[in-house]
Amino acid sequence: MSISITRIAGALGAEIGNIDISQDLSDDTIAEVRSAWLEHKVIFFRDQDITPLQHLAFAKRFGDVVEYPMVKGLEEAPEIVPVVKLPHETHNFGGMWHSDTSYLESPPMGAILVARELPPFGGDTLFSNMVLAYERLSDGMKEMLSGLTGISSSAKAEVTKSREDRMATDAKVGESTELRAEHPVVRTHSETGDKILYVNYGHTIGFKGFTEEESAPILDYLFQHQRRPEFTCAFRWRPGSIAFWDNRATHHNPVNDYHGFKRIMHRITIAGDRPA
Ligand code: SIN
Repeated sequence: MSISITRIAGALGAEIGNIDISQDLSDDTIAEVRSAWLEHKVIFFRDQDITPLQHLAFAKRFGDVVEYPMVKGLEEAPEIVPVVKLPHETHNFGGMWHSDTSYLESPPMGAILVARELPPFGGDTLFSNMVLAYERLSDGMKEMLSGLTGISSSAKAEVTKSREDRMATDAKVGESTELRAEHPVVRTHSETGDKILYVNYGHTIGFKGFTEEESAPILDYLFQHQRRPEFTCAFRWRPGSIAFWDNRATHHNPVNDYHGFKRIMHRITIAGDRPA
């Protein structure tokens, strides 16, 4: 039986049904999932009861799994990073619009996030479509951006703050230095050929060859543009929910609106190529 695909918004996002991720899935099923993922950019699964090792096995069907920088993974599976906010904490990990770790030479292709413990309300994750964001720019802006290189840093103030609680308890030893990478502002998706607007609020600090003052107003415009509601979808988590996003073509933003409650997710990151 084929998987079912139900879109959740106009811009991106679809729920995948008729699938049990705890099972050893056939190559045909994995190919169907991959094709839905490329088309919808973020896909969701409901009512899945999977162990960390089944999570890992599923992720490995899509590529090489990599450890997350700076923050320690689970003892039994270091590739799985717990994304945690505890009742007394105020910051949520990655709590702003961003594309994962664009400060690496080869940022991840994607990530698979499994809900482990959820607050009674809130804690949704928002996603935004960066192919659509690029398409909706004017021809003049597209031309101006086409030759530019963006500089990403792991140490922008807001993202550093969002990591503070986790770094206090789960930091990897010897990984406190700033990481930086340069990538084309408009990258081409290595599987679909789509053009992607590849700057992000969490990590992009400027354009190569521009002063900070010159970069800032253009970046501010692009960051606002990228979060236009019509480019986004919101995912309401339930126990057993899983999200799998294409990190090349999307941004995400977990909403920090559940103070006093616990939210625990498990995340696996899949290796990507060098943006071109
Ligand atoms: C992240 O991996 O950026 C966190 C996503 C989430 O907590 O929903």
